[in-house]
Amino acid sequence: MQGSPEAVNDIERAAEVLRAGGLVAFPTETVYGLGADAGNATAVARIFEVKRRPRSHPLIIHIGASSQLHDWAEGVSPAARLLAERFWPGPLTLVLRRGRRVPLVVTGGAETVALRVPAHPIAQRLLSAFGGGIAAPSANRFGSVSPTCAAHVREDLGADVDFVLDGGPCAIGIESTIVDVTCEEPAILRPGGVTREALEQVLGRSVPVASRSRIRAPGSHALHYAPRARVILVERDELVPEAERLAARGERVGVLLPGGSARAPRGACAIAVIPDSMAEYARRLYQMLRDFDRRGCSVILASLPAEDEFGLAIADRLRRAAGPRGDEGPEGGGTGSRARWLQTET
Ligand code: TXA
Ligand code: MG
Repeated sequence: MQGSPEAVNDIERAAEVLRAGGLVAFPTETVYGLGADAGNATAVARIFEVKRRPRSHPLIIHIGASSQLHDWAEGVSPAARLLAERFWPGPLTLVLRRGRRVPLVVTGGAETVALRVPAHPIAQRLLSAFGGGIAAPSANRFGSVSPTCAAHVREDLGADVDFVLDGGPCAIGIESTIVDVTCEEPAILRPGGVTREALEQVLGRSVPVASRSRIRAPGSHALHYAPRARVILVERDELVPEAERLAARGERVGVLLPGGSARAPRGACAIAVIPDSMAEYARRLYQMLRDFDRRGCSVILASLPAEDEFGLAIADRLRRAAGPRGDEGPEGGGTGSRARWLQTET
């Protein structure tokens, strides 16, 4: 739709809906967002209702250009500026000190704000037609898998969203990388579309992934990015035998099977062969999880990829899908200087 006259009309209409306090689902290069006028507290409150998301979980504000950074954030560090210059527009979200105009409903009451300039041309045109910031989480109900095409949004949210801009399938397919730049040492709160290696190259230092215990917050939930089927992680060698054991017990087994596997498990209900390219795996992961649900799988077996480049984000999402994990309760930890919202809510 991108160059057509309908597209221009659609963008104008969507901007109108935002101005009127409505909700617009729109494509980004990562996943689809459910947007509202970031300056309109009532409109933003409706996002939480529609998603059925706890009010304490903050939203990302999408802006049109890094020149708008100072409209929404204060005390922007040199590292933050460097990351914005290098990666925006793109799949990077920066957590900064909240600017005064940011309504507290957007940040879940926090004194920090998450900002991102999306690269998708439709998102960019929507932002420029609208003129303000758009607060948007992923456009799915709380606790389920993020939508990577407009059909997923309609399946999940139906008539609860006022307007859906269809930009086709998302090129990256998993959410943005979230980097906390409020402290001296930037840290990754959620791995995503910008790799840790790329961040480290630009900053010229190592960028740790903030430990789970440091980002726990009251009210956070352990099980997210999750399909309906139970996700079980096993060693790669165990995938086929474990799938066959479970199938023999009457489970409807879905398997995320690595490309070079010697054979497919017998009795599996659905098998998705993992692409060799990790970028392609990321692009298709959520669709594959949805497909397992559609085929009625009761359990999904997967193994973790090597945790470099895109593998880090894929492993993160698979672990979260396989949660809750027993090592810390949903309310544990989270009192340090990086005490943050658990980066798992969807
Ligand atoms: O790629 C993406 O990031 C997509 C697209 C639509 O931009 N958005 C997205 O939003 O994934 P959401 O709400 O599903 O996830 C945003 C994450 C949440 O885990 C939330 O806790 C975190 O960002 N977040 C937002 N504001 C924050 C803040 N002030 N401090 C720490 N984390 C924050
Ligand atoms: Mg989400």
